[in-house]
Amino acid sequence: MSGNDLSHAAPRRVLLIVGGGIAAYKSLELVRLLRKADVAVTPVLTKAAERFVTSLSLSALAESEVRTELFSLADEAKMGHIELSRSADLVVVAPATADLMAKAANGLADDLASTVLLATDKPVFMAPAMNVRMWLHPATQRNLATLAVDGVRIVGPDEGSMACGEFGPGRMAEPPVIAQAIFEALKPAPRPLAGRHVLITAGPTAEPIDPVRVITNRSSGKQGYAIAGALAGLGARVTLVSGPTSLPPPPGVARVDVETALQMKAACDAALPADVAVCVAAVADWRPDHAFKLKLKKGPGAPPSVALVENPDILAGLSAKGPQRPRLVVGFAAETNDLEANARSKLERKGCDWIVANDVSGEGIMGGDQNEVLLVTREGTERWARAAKTGIAARLAERIAAALA
Ligand code: CTP
Repeated sequence: MSGNDLSHAAPRRVLLIVGGGIAAYKSLELVRLLRKADVAVTPVLTKAAERFVTSLSLSALAESEVRTELFSLADEAKMGHIELSRSADLVVVAPATADLMAKAANGLADDLASTVLLATDKPVFMAPAMNVRMWLHPATQRNLATLAVDGVRIVGPDEGSMACGEFGPGRMAEPPVIAQAIFEALKPAPRPLAGRHVLITAGPTAEPIDPVRVITNRSSGKQGYAIAGALAGLGARVTLVSGPTSLPPPPGVARVDVETALQMKAACDAALPADVAVCVAAVADWRPDHAFKLKLKKGPGAPPSVALVENPDILAGLSAKGPQRPRLVVGFAAETNDLEANARSKLERKGCDWIVANDVSGEGIMGGDQNEVLLVTREGTERWARAAKTGIAARLAERIAAALA
């Protein structure tokens, strides 16, 4: 398969924002290369870019109408700018001028191009092009760093002699180089878990005491939701049984909302069969033996006492499902001490295959965006360095895919 062979992929669409700089003429060549590879191109021209290339030539090469106005009734009637920003697989800014980079880095939205950049939820590529002094200016370098943190992928710039007569970095990368970066990004992601069903529990549970009070815990659901997203990204069909959280379900994940441990267990049983189960939820170990029908009121007597009964262990139940047991059952262990020993004894006690153990006494872990875990399996123990919960999720998803391969 050659580098730009996208023949096995679904039709792909790029939204190309052309900024106002002398390098804008090179964007015509970029459009030609993309169209040659059957990538659909929707061009957006900034006001300044219209001085360097015409809508007519761009539209002829792209075989598509060119959008220039944020407040055009005719354009908005066809496709609103928000929809436009989401309609493509990728957004490419070439040339990305210092001005466009500054706007995007600061979230300004005062024309169609900058509004599209603020509204898009798709990967963004920028090919900067500007005078060498503008490129090296601390303001541009600051914006560049901000854009990189925001996930914008930067192609170029090249070093060389420039249209303004100076020499240095600032020339826009050549169209074949930008096109290649686009082709790589458009290649369909590997889907090693296609056809597999994964069941995930996440979030806290909430056990009612009376109509207004619950016993719950500090779990945010972030780690479980990230794992659900990562597994769906690898092609799995994911059922996410979730306790109360404020998180949106990751794309492509079917979420079943529950509150109590008993509801979570019932939803898990109903979701079977599954190839894999990953129990990330912080399930309440106990629930009040009954929920009061009416709100408990303060009175002159002693404070009320609430009797607790033990909840079923969902992970242990899934591990002991006999013929319905998922092939791989993964549990989590939230510990504050003796991490590895506690995790290994949980592995035995619950009969699962792996335990991902985390030290929840660590700063910023419970409810935070980072995690630091041990992967405890029957073969041994691995220590994974502290990383974003999404990074831990991606690594675990890869491991699950490898285990099922
Ligand atoms: N778990 C479960 N059902 C329960 C309790 C826990 O499925 N009723 C699962 C969790 O989702 C997690 C694992 O069991 O995957 C371990 O949870 P943890 O809270 O660390 O352990 P506990 O079983 O509650 O044990 P302990 O409180 O003694 O640490």
